Amino acid sequence: MISKTIQDGINEQIRNEIQSAYLYLAMSAHCEAVNFAGSAHWLRAQWGEELEHAMKLYRYVYDRGGRVTFQAIEKPPSEFPSLMGIFQQVLAHEQKVTALINSLYATAIKENDYASQIELQWFVKEQIEEEKNASAIIEILKLAGESGPSVLMLDRQLGARAKG
Ligand SMILES: [Fe+2]
Ligand SMILES: [Fe+2]
Repeated sequence: MISKTIQDGINEQIRNEIQSAYLYLAMSAHCEAVNFAGSAHWLRAQWGEELEHAMKLYRYVYDRGGRVTFQAIEKPPSEFPSLMGIFQQVLAHEQKVTALINSLYATAIKENDYASQIELQWFVKEQIEEEKNASAIIEILKLAGESGPSVLMLDRQLGARAKG
């Protein structure tokens, strides 16, 4: 059985993952509207990944005999800045999520919950990937400059992302 403290923490993280999904879908919708089709595709794939993260935790709660309860998610912004601004927001958001995962992991240590530590290790590793991907796009945008053909090339590259 899962402790109430860990169950609450994981339910909170399920909310955070769904909140991330909602934010990325809002960004995708914006990119769609301004004809950055590749970025829209990339962000929609990211939306799907965040929902998978939520469902991985959802499954885990039930595997441990717990109960999932849902919490409110916030309305995402409807206006977004340039492509550079969007990916800077993605990176900042992922850094925030990393901190939340780390603090949940610290709780699992405090609670002597070894199974949850192992489950959360997957998320700790995933966050390395998430931050790395956003940083890499920002670096390319820095080289490309804020506008012009190289940004369109990058947008096309983002459109080649497999999932979504
Ligand atoms: Fe996630
Ligand atoms: Fe993420």
